[in-house]
Amino acid sequence: MAKGTGMSKALAVGIGVLTVSSVYKYPPVSPPTPTKPPVIPTGLPPTLRLPDNLIPESYKVYLQPHLYAAITNNYTNQSFVFTGNSTVRVKFLATSLLQPTDARKVFPCFDEPALKAVFHITIIHRPGTVALSNEIGDTTEIDGEEWIVTTFAETPIMSAYLLAFTVSDFMYKSKSSDQIALPDISAGAMENWGFVSYQESGLLYDKETASTFDQERVATMISHELWFQVVNLVPMRWWNDLWLNKGFVTYMSYIGVEAAGWDLRDLIVLREIQTAFLVDSLNSSHPLSLQENYIQTFSEIIDLFDEITYRKGAAVLRMLATFMTEDAFMKGIKTYLYKFHYNNTVYKDLWNCLQEETKEDVEAFMSTWIEQVGYPVITIITQTGETSQEQFLLKQTGGHEPHIEIQDKDEWLLANVNGTGFFRVNYDEENWNKLHMQLERNHHVIPLINRGQLIDDAFNIARNIFFQLTNHLINDTEYIPWKSALKILDHLILMFDRSEVYGPIMKYLRKQITQLYKHFEKYTLNRTIPEKHTDQYNQVNAISVACSNGLPECIEMAKSLFKDYRNGTDNIHPNLRRAIYCSAIASGDEYDWEFAWKEYQRATVAKDKLRYALSCTKEIWLLNRYLQYTLNPAKIRKMDLVSTINCIAKKVAGQPLAWDFVRGHWSFITQEYGAGAISLGSLLDAVTKRFSTDVELEELQREQEEDDQGLAARTLEQVIERTEANIKWVKENKQIVKEWFMGEL
Ligand SMILES: *[C@@H]1O[C@H](CO)[C@@H](O)[C@H](O)[C@H]1NC(C)=O
Ligand SMILES: *[C@@H]1O[C@H](CO)[C@@H](O)[C@H](O)[C@H]1NC(C)=O
Ligand SMILES: *[C@@H]1O[C@H](CO)[C@@H](O)[C@H](O)[C@H]1NC(C)=O
Ligand SMILES: *[C@@H]1O[C@H](CO)[C@@H](O)[C@H](O)[C@H]1NC(C)=O
Ligand SMILES: *[C@@H]1O[C@H](CO)[C@@H](O)[C@H](O)[C@H]1NC(C)=O
Ligand SMILES: *[C@@H]1O[C@H](CO)[C@@H](O)[C@H](O)[C@H]1NC(C)=O
Ligand SMILES: *[C@@H]1O[C@H](CO)[C@@H](O)[C@H](O)[C@H]1NC(C)=O
Ligand SMILES: *[C@@H]1O[C@H](CO)[C@@H](O)[C@H](O)[C@H]1NC(C)=O
Ligand SMILES: *[C@@H]1O[C@H](CO)[C@@H](O)[C@H](O)[C@H]1NC(C)=O
Repeated sequence: MAKGTGMSKALAVGIGVLTVSSVYKYPPVSPPTPTKPPVIPTGLPPTLRLPDNLIPESYKVYLQPHLYAAITNNYTNQSFVFTGNSTVRVKFLATSLLQPTDARKVFPCFDEPALKAVFHITIIHRPGTVALSNEIGDTTEIDGEEWIVTTFAETPIMSAYLLAFTVSDFMYKSKSSDQIALPDISAGAMENWGFVSYQESGLLYDKETASTFDQERVATMISHELWFQVVNLVPMRWWNDLWLNKGFVTYMSYIGVEAAGWDLRDLIVLREIQTAFLVDSLNSSHPLSLQENYIQTFSEIIDLFDEITYRKGAAVLRMLATFMTEDAFMKGIKTYLYKFHYNNTVYKDLWNCLQEETKEDVEAFMSTWIEQVGYPVITIITQTGETSQEQFLLKQTGGHEPHIEIQDKDEWLLANVNGTGFFRVNYDEENWNKLHMQLERNHHVIPLINRGQLIDDAFNIARNIFFQLTNHLINDTEYIPWKSALKILDHLILMFDRSEVYGPIMKYLRKQITQLYKHFEKYTLNRTIPEKHTDQYNQVNAISVACSNGLPECIEMAKSLFKDYRNGTDNIHPNLRRAIYCSAIASGDEYDWEFAWKEYQRATVAKDKLRYALSCTKEIWLLNRYLQYTLNPAKIRKMDLVSTINCIAKKVAGQPLAWDFVRGHWSFITQEYGAGAISLGSLLDAVTKRFSTDVELEELQREQEEDDQGLAARTLEQVIERTEANIKWVKENKQIVKEWFMGEL
């Protein structure tokens, strides 16, 4: 019965009460039309929280997914209809809550994290499919069709939102803690009780074609999701403390993969903390922990799944772990998990467990970081030893005096060693200059993480110094400083690559990158890679920056290796394929593009490298054709539509085409994806990233007027705000940036 076809697309997934996605390949009959749910009284109930005098004990749930999908050339007809019933037993009274439900609500339940119960699930599914569970069901006949009834073992006591089930024709491999790769879900991965679901590309990789970054992504994702399995033992009492679980897992996923031999721990600064700084400086930011009564509605809950919750959460926990030592921190965590498993917590329960391990006052140290919005900038005047702090934006904060470590050598002063504190540091100009001189004299004296963080801080609080701090990169081969600078330079390129400022930026980057390119060249030509993981990242940086800024050796290398590839010998290491294919197609012709397109269609794994590279052509007509392909699910899978258009929009040639295309097909795309889907917002966000002119602002405002259904109201508002900010920023900075880069040449 459990015979599967390996990896086909036929499957259904229901994830808790939040999302459901399903595709069924060979529909025996059309699905029933969804029945409208019963009329629910309009107007807000007095409170959206559930009454606390009814506590669910166990659920009995029957679900029958009627899955159906017909994919035609230009249209996917999918059905997400479920029928079923559920009975809840409420710590004697049994109430039947039964109704056919629509896609969003798999079954009625007490869906607050604190209201936990055991679940008895029965799934009624099509023959030839497998309901992921540990039982094989009995065949039965319903309305003249054959169905299978699979009954699951009783679950442990758990919150309803963690419940997941899947119906698919995949073979399943393991019997407990299952992991499954799904072709068409839009979130990268989702943790649920009993098994973890991932996007296909997240879990499947092939040794021959996978880069070490693919392996890392898979390992990180698994580590991430498995940690969620652990913290889900101890869910927060209410969503206002979501940051504790999400932040902890984000932090742990950097420590977890280190055990696998990757030097990734320091990258938390690049990937999480620098982004958290960015978001937490906006007016729209929020404190990590809000009061319970501020988080009541569905959209208030959904809004909490944001950068602050994940990244700032991780940043402050890393700060705390460093402050009380990592060993003590981990001991406290163990106690906490042990003490509260199958129970609910508020974040202060964790503080109490940590407090047992340290003499420092955990609560006093953490309270301002958790309860207040934003973060401080510490200003240090080295001549007088005076320090002061203020919030990076607007409001005044009292708050804890942060711990300043200080390294004192050659008379300069460096604070916040390794960026462990969640704050930025500004100095008097003299100290900045001394740091700059030290970087040029011998950058190794400054700790690696700080070489990156100085660049990031300077751009945000002392812009004139930023440009000088990038000078030393000509001699620096490390990834963290380079990536910190490139993130910012990429933004400058985005703002200026359509103007005369671009020429000098390109020349400067070409000059800075040449040595780094040569540093890795022997590996590149050799189909080998450096040993250190971060060096492998930097090898890719060297190639993509060198080629995209016109370093002749790089372009020649890419063309020649691609020619070999076309001729049947692929001499490109998987790590470098994305960058080299892209460079070759950017400088190549129609035939190169056609070849890559054929390869893309032929490939079964690691297709993303080619899909990305296809967006690198500078031929407008090829880009337009590629955009058309995104609407055809037989050519570009639905789950890849948004990211493919995003790749095209990132290129200067593709940007206006992608914008016109998205505007022209907006209603079709929303219909296919469903209004309000997160990915639609990201599509609009991506195609307007470069917007920085008055004309573009007017176009957006016109879209806003015409969006009478409010399909993208919130994103439109945000991108309009960003465009206004970009216009202002470009006006104020264009001349400065231009003169600086010209002066450096
Ligand atoms: C989708 O499929 C159903 C069932 O076959 C059919 O009734 C409906 O008309 C189709 N919708 C579209 C837009 O093709
Ligand atoms: C799909 O293509 C058919 C035939 O080309 C056309 O009649 C139909 O309107 C198209 N549907 C959509 C949703 O674009
Ligand atoms: C729920 O559905 C199952 C399967 O269709 C059925 O056997 C059971 O009687 C139903 N229970 C209730 C309370 O309707
Ligand atoms: C910042 O947000 C507050 C409300 O949280 C609002 O009143 C204020 O106008 C906003 N300021 C700016 C500059 O947007
Ligand atoms: C849950 O935690 C609370 C507070 O520490 C405690 O009083 C209660 O006994 C715990 N419940 C269980 C089931 O462990
Ligand atoms: C800073 O981080 C590095 C690893 O990048 C580590 O070796 C060093 O001990 C850390 N320094 C301090 C003062 O914690
Ligand atoms: C690069 O290193 C050389 C040799 O150590 C040094 O002379 C030069 O000043 C450095 N250049 C920059 C811009 O840091
Ligand atoms: C790789 O490069 C090294 C030196 O850079 C050379 O000795 C070696 O032969 C090369 N290996 C291959 C497989 O080309
Ligand atoms: C492809 O390989 C063959 C055989 O090695 C060679 O004769 C031919 O010149 C190559 N073509 C190109 C375009 O490199």
